Order: sequence, then structure tokens, then C-alpha cells
Amino acid sequence: MLLLLLLLLPVVLEFSFVSISAQQYWSCSEGPPLGNGNSTCVGPTPYLIFSHGNSIFRIDPEGTNHERLVVDAGISVIMDFHYKKERIYWVDLERQLLQRVFLNGSRQEKVCNIEKNVSGMAINWINEEIIWSNRQEGIITVTDLKGNNSHVLLSTLKYPANIAVDPVERFIFWSSEVASSLHRADLSGVKVKTLLETPERITAMSLDVLDKRLFWIQDNREGSNSHIYSCDYDGRSVHLIKPPTRHNLFAISLFADRIFYSTLKKKTIWIANKHTGKDMVRIHFNPSSVPAGELKVVHPIVQPKAEDGDQDSGKSTWTSNRARHKVTTCLLIQATHKGF
Ligand SMILES: *[C@@H]1O[C@H](CO)[C@@H](O)[C@H](O)[C@H]1NC(C)=O
Ligand SMILES: *[C@@H]1O[C@H](CO)[C@@H](O)[C@H](O)[C@H]1NC(C)=O
Ligand SMILES: *[C@@H]1O[C@H](CO)[C@@H](O)[C@H](O)[C@H]1NC(C)=O
Ligand SMILES: *[C@@H]1O[C@H](CO)[C@@H](O)[C@H](O)[C@H]1NC(C)=O
Repeated sequence: MLLLLLLLLPVVLEFSFVSISAQQYWSCSEGPPLGNGNSTCVGPTPYLIFSHGNSIFRIDPEGTNHERLVVDAGISVIMDFHYKKERIYWVDLERQLLQRVFLNGSRQEKVCNIEKNVSGMAINWINEEIIWSNRQEGIITVTDLKGNNSHVLLSTLKYPANIAVDPVERFIFWSSEVASSLHRADLSGVKVKTLLETPERITAMSLDVLDKRLFWIQDNREGSNSHIYSCDYDGRSVHLIKPPTRHNLFAISLFADRIFYSTLKKKTIWIANKHTGKDMVRIHFNPSSVPAGELKVVHPIVQPKAEDGDQDSGKSTWTSNRARHKVTTCLLIQATHKGF
């Protein structure tokens, strides 16, 4: 308990110091879309999950409700979540285990053993599958959520690293760190396509499923200069989001008009405007010897159902384009009012 307090305290203090102007900038209340002016917000408040040291944590974007969800997750972790099933799935690379836990941190359990050299993992929340890449073997494998019925989806790939899926569009994307390239295929394993190649090194990748764009971190091979780029799902319309930074960027995640990223040297999670690259909030882990590793924003709109589905529950409102735009607009409006 004391340990947790010690860990928690610096985070909150540091955060409150830097984020005075950022308070409340996305206080989305629970409940259906309201649709009137300033309170045009839908859904639960988004929160971050991230790996840090040997643990998996959650934190609100305001820096509050910092909570440890998994104590002994592994030193080196690759993770994703399934919103509807309320689960986090992660690969513990050292112990070669795929595990899961509820988003509230309860009921940690082993799903299956997993081979070494796993480099990326993603949840297909529509087909209910776990997909992972193996750098050494050059393959991407799929199983069901229980770890059964595994089969190879793609093979003879050149050192696949990060992977990400957009099951609504039926695409899987992967990066190759060695070849410094981005690729795409259909989720059934056909229509393999190279989206782009760069002389620099691609170290992390994430999808903006709302705007249908791919974001990645690229650095020169010495690792001293990181940039964030984005492109559309065809590899076109490439944008440089952030000018070169002093920071060594480490992990990236997208939500609405925000980029969340962590830096290696400063041990910090930053929240920036995705259009301008301007940093707005920082969550500093002090004192800490390690940066936050995997980083995901948990919210139903980042895992929509297939286009404009059924009206079976309140949650399906998220999936409609209108709801998506409302969330984005809401965040933009509030941010603008605060002068970011
Ligand atoms: C929205 O917010 C602005 C600035 O905070 C305020 O001036 C305006 O009256 C608000 N509008 C509504 C409908 O609440
Ligand atoms: C955690 O979430 C699961 C799934 O919703 C639920 O069954 C369980 O009761 C929750 N546990 C706690 C301690 O809140
Ligand atoms: C695969 O894993 C082994 C043992 O962990 C390691 O020695 C090797 O370098 C890895 N290969 C690649 C391509 O990462
Ligand atoms: C699925 O996996 C679980 C746990 O690994 C195992 O107990 C179960 O027998 C498997 N089911 C099938 C049909 O293989």
C-alpha cells in the first residue's frame, strides 16, 4: 500500500503542476449524446492503459485515478484490449505467455503459451480474434480469444514488428523495423501491399480508426531524432505531425484529435494535438527508471462495430458516424475554449 502511494504521489503532483490549464478539457459525462452546444459529449470518459516497469496501469487523461491493474505483467509487454469483453490481453515476452485480465484489474488469467520473438499483437474485436506477429519467423498468426484454433495468416514477411487492425475496413497493418516499411493486407491474408518505405527506422505504429489514418514514429538510426508521421490507409497523403523533437519517442496511441505518446528519456506520457503536434498535457513519472511502454486509449469509439450496425443497445450509438464526429468535435471545441 505504501509502495503504491509512493508511486502515485509523484505522478499526481507533477501532473497537477503542469496541467492547470488542461483541467476538465474533456469531461465527457456518462450517458447518451446530448447534442447541445458545449456539452456535446458522448460516452464514458476515455482513459489510458499502459505498461510501466513490471505492471500495467490505468490513468485518466487528467492525471487522476491512477491505478495499478496488473502487478506482475512482465518486464517486456505487448498489449491490446477488447472493449466489449472488458479485457486487456498482453504478451509477456520473457515468460512467453499470453494473458488477460478484466479492464478493472480483476481475474488475471493465462490464455495460452506463445512462442518467442513475438513483436506485435492486436485484438480483432469484430471477429473475436487475437493476432500476433513473429519477427524471427516472418509470420502473422491468428487465434480465437481462448488461444485455440491458431493458424498462420501471413508468412514470408520481412521482420514484421508492430501490427494493428481495423476490422471495420477489414485491414491488418504491420511495420517492419529492419526494412523500415509499412504494409497492409486484407484480414483474410490476401491483397498484401507495401504502403511506403523510408530510409529511417519505424519504431512504433498506431491506427486512427476514426479518421482512417496510420500514425507512426520514425527516427534516424541513432535514435536521437524522432518524428511522428501519418498517412491514409493507402500510404498516401503523408503528413509530418511533429517537427523533430529532442525526445526519443517510444509508444504512440490515437484518440479523437489527440496523440498520446511516451518518451524514452523523460519517462513521460504526452498528450498532443494530432493536427498541430502541439503538446498539451504531460504525465511525468518521477522518479522512474523506465518509460511507459505500450500505451492505449480505452473508449468504445475506438472499437466500433461494422458500419452503422444494429440499434440493439445504447453502445451501438458510438458506431454511427455522427457519434464519432460528435466526440471529435467535442474534444476540439473544449480544447479550443481552453486556448490550446
Ligand atoms: C459554451 O461555452 C462558452 C465558453 O465557455 C460560453 O460562453 C457559452 O455560453 C456556452 N454555451 C452554452 C450553450 O452553454
Ligand atoms: C470487474 O469487471 C468484471 C467484468 O465486468 C466484473 O465481472 C467484476 O465483478 C469486476 N470486479 C470488480 C472488483 O469490480
Ligand atoms: C528471437 O529470440 C531469441 C531468444 O529470445 C533471440 O536471441 C533472437 O535474437 C530473437 N530474434 C529476433 C530476430 O529478434
Ligand atoms: C481451448 O483452450 C482451452 C485452454 O487453452 C482448453 O482448455 C480447451 O480444451 C481448448 N478447446 C479446444 C476445442 O481446443
